[in-house]
Amino acid sequence: MTRKKYSLLLVDDELANLQKLRRTFMEQYSVHSAQSAAEALEILGRVAVDAIITDQRMPDMTGLELLETLQKSHPNLVRIVLTGFAEVSDLIAAINTGKVHKYITKPWEPDDLRLVVHDALEKMELIIENERLAAELKLANERLRTENIILRQEVEQQVFSKSIIHGSPEMENILHLLRRVTGTGTTVLIQGETGTGKELIARFIHGESNRRDQIFIPVNCGAIPRELVESEFFGHSRGAFTGATQEKKGFFEMADGGTLFLDEIGEAPPELQVKLLRVIQEGEIMPVGYNQPRKVDVRIIASTNRDLKAEVQANRFRQDLFFRINVFSVTIPPLRERRKDIPPLAEFFLQQFSRKLNRRTGGFSDETRELMLEYSWPGNVRELQNEVERLVLLSEPGRAIGPELLSDHIRQRHRSSPVSDGDLKTAVRELEEEMIRETLTRFGQNRSRTARALGISRQSLLEKLRRMGIND
Ligand SMILES: Nc1ncnc2c1ncn2[C@@H]1O[C@H](COP(=O)(O)OP(=O)(O)OP(=O)(O)O)[C@@H](O)[C@H]1O
Ligand SMILES: [Mg+2]
Repeated sequence: MTRKKYSLLLVDDELANLQKLRRTFMEQYSVHSAQSAAEALEILGRVAVDAIITDQRMPDMTGLELLETLQKSHPNLVRIVLTGFAEVSDLIAAINTGKVHKYITKPWEPDDLRLVVHDALEKMELIIENERLAAELKLANERLRTENIILRQEVEQQVFSKSIIHGSPEMENILHLLRRVTGTGTTVLIQGETGTGKELIARFIHGESNRRDQIFIPVNCGAIPRELVESEFFGHSRGAFTGATQEKKGFFEMADGGTLFLDEIGEAPPELQVKLLRVIQEGEIMPVGYNQPRKVDVRIIASTNRDLKAEVQANRFRQDLFFRINVFSVTIPPLRERRKDIPPLAEFFLQQFSRKLNRRTGGFSDETRELMLEYSWPGNVRELQNEVERLVLLSEPGRAIGPELLSDHIRQRHRSSPVSDGDLKTAVRELEEEMIRETLTRFGQNRSRTARALGISRQSLLEKLRRMGIND
């Protein structure tokens, strides 16, 4: 046990008794004394005290009453009562309910009293220590649970989609290009529309690097509340702010030695952008509540589905940060610009979902294949993946998957021209609705960005959506 100097508060209305008590403890303890309960309370409000020894009989308040008040306000205070032998029976109830830890009958021997106080303090320290350990254990368990979730996602991801399926020269080129940086610690920026496989590529880069046995942590930069950004990314000390009851590691420290995937970096709020710039420049972080920076060794892979250069020009993204992350950048083309990837991807997903959903299908019919090849896939690979899952669910066991099972908008792509017949107004409206639907899918249903891409106001987009029967 620690040998810190404990502090005692002695309470007795008789001065002679107080002096005797003082002499008993003066050497080993730092001693405060009070001649009444009121004075004792006043001292307790000012100084930290480890144990209180009080006389039972005092004019303003009995020792027991005093200790009873303290049980609530100072739960970790060791509470000892000095009492005449005849009154011991009155104390039993108080001891049983924890109001009093020990009682000592008068007259007392200094050595006995010292021993009693010492034991009581030691016992209290063990209790406090146990509580702290239990809290730490609880926290450690929570940490483990979080890590376990991350690891499980990792494993699932690897089992589910180990490789980057492709059949197009465009994708082949990208993979070829990427192999040049996988083995290095170079920062990589991956650009591409939603669902093109940016995260998959990021995992691929990590998996091919010499960090592959270390952790890969994906973080969505736009999804963390502003007020938590600093502590989530850089961690904090215990007591750094209200509610910071334990020290916490931030993403950068958790990813030390591994890879941090800054997903949707274009959505990072300005405060985060400044801080990211600093870490990337200095290679060190400053957790909240500390004043010593810590070195971290983290490989950064960033992704965005916005045009980051344009974001810089529009003053929404810091240019200096852009330069730092734009060291080696790849742009994954949308699926409609690498159509040769569609057939192998469709077959791959078909196998995956057949296995997962336990459905044996008869494969795609020729016409289904053709329609899938021609469709524009604004939601890219993810949309294709979802469509195939849907097809597998709808399919009859052993029967070929015909075009009638495809979603309406994919099947309808085939009609020759939107303005073939009917009046112009209807045709224009049809075209408009189609473009809106596609753009919405492309921007993950984000209204503002869809409006911007279509060159109309958000208000006018919302009106059109209401007309189309699409509400939030
Ligand atoms: N080439 C590919 N081979 C196999 N699966 C792929 C391929 N490309 C994408 N996928 C799958 O498509 C889905 C979407 O990919 P991912 O999440 O990597 O896209 P993203 O570009 O990060 O999308 P978002 O911008 O919406 O976050 C995932 O389930 C991924 O495994
Ligand atoms: Mg993603």
